[in-house]
Amino acid sequence: MISFNNICKIYSRNKVFYDANLSICKGDFVFLTGESGSGKTTFLRLLSGLESPDKGKIFVLNADITKHTKKELSDYRRKIGIIMQDNIFIENETVSYNTSLPLIISNDKEIHSKVSAVLNLVELDNKGNKIIKNLSAGERQRVAIARAIINKPDIILADEPTGNLDHKLSKNIIQMLIKLSKYGATVIVATHEFSLVKELKQKIININNEKLYIKE
Ligand SMILES: Nc1ncnc2c1ncn2[C@@H]1O[C@H](COP(=O)(O)OP(=O)(O)O)[C@@H](O)[C@H]1O
Ligand SMILES: [Mg+2]
Repeated sequence: MISFNNICKIYSRNKVFYDANLSICKGDFVFLTGESGSGKTTFLRLLSGLESPDKGKIFVLNADITKHTKKELSDYRRKIGIIMQDNIFIENETVSYNTSLPLIISNDKEIHSKVSAVLNLVELDNKGNKIIKNLSAGERQRVAIARAIINKPDIILADEPTGNLDHKLSKNIIQMLIKLSKYGATVIVATHEFSLVKELKQKIININNEKLYIKE
């Protein structure tokens, strides 16, 4: 359902991917690992259509996203849940409002119940009325996660989503993402927290020397 075919991505003199190949099945949960600077964020940006490869094809949901028009790309991006390292919020609005944004865009009729369910999952049930700019880093991160999963996307991409969280909450959140994959979402989580990767025993994509390797 996701495949990278002969992907090359080069920033001026910096080769990030060279002839990299990979395929991931629907409903897989995978950790994305690799040293700092190896290309984890670039991989997620390529997959979310924020960046195009210099060469190769990226198939997702039966289409080559490198061939998408601007309109097709924005439709595609609405179908995936993305948690990046610098998440953009409406700072003067509440946690609930920011979490509900994907539902407002898609004109959903059950905003209230969906927001409270998802805030409950990330343990922010009593923070719905707080203003975003007053949150701690860990709380912001959990709002980003809540917002990314509220639409039940087919694909969830997360770039170091637990970077600001303690071990117990990190583990809870990753376990929650694993659970979403059991319901059919394909989930890719970039991380350098090896203790969690070891502990949770999931598939791993490793980036090494400009190539992608998958370990079951
Ligand atoms: N926009 C950019 N312009 C130039 N070089 C970049 C850009 N984005 C990333 N890089 C370089 O590409 C390499 C991979 O970066 P990145 O994907 O952020 O790695 P990771 O997330 O694994 O730390 C790094 O050497 C980084 O400096
Ligand atoms: Mg990164």
